[in-house]
Amino acid sequence: MQKTLRLLCLAIPCFAQAPSAYPPYASLADIMAGILLPKSNAVFGVTKQAPKNESEWTSVQTDAAVLVEAGNLILARGRLKENGDPVPQSADFKRHVQALVAAAKGAHKAALRKDPDAVFAACEPLYQACYSCHQAYRFCPTCQEASRQ
Ligand code: HEC
Repeated sequence: MQKTLRLLCLAIPCFAQAPSAYPPYASLADIMAGILLPKSNAVFGVTKQAPKNESEWTSVQTDAAVLVEAGNLILARGRLKENGDPVPQSADFKRHVQALVAAAKGAHKAALRKDPDAVFAACEPLYQACYSCHQAYRFCPTCQEASRQ
């Protein structure tokens, strides 16, 4: 068995990306509804009411950190959309993910500084990241996505 695998590796560049023990299971819609939506809402919430104590700040810090991590979840190889199609891996789609990650990092840094104004400032690019990816990839799955794959 080992030998066969080694031989295969000579022929194709396998193991370039180590296979994960746990391949993606949740759909992209699950990741969005279960992580992106509640975690971003928690960050946006700071603009309505600033955290009042240490534990409320810790909670926003954690939410923003998980939003950053969501970039990896979205792009995990083998992740499928709700309709069973693979999540795009195009450069354009990755740019949208990168915008999300950058904005969430900004929110995380602001939360670490416990600076409500800085969290507020990070919310605009965060919102834009959701909005612009949805414009391109969520609401028009047949026309735009097909040409952007
Ligand atoms: C890189 C692209 C991208 C970014 C960034 C993104 N989304 Fe999405 N979102 C999608 C796509 C594509 C779908 C459709 C998922 C499917 O069909 O499985 C979706 C679907 C959703 C859904 C619907 C889930 C359902 O149950 O049907 C919600 C809610 C959502 N996104 C929230 C957000 C929020 C909030 C953000 C920003 C914090 C965000 N998304 C950022 C691409 C993105």
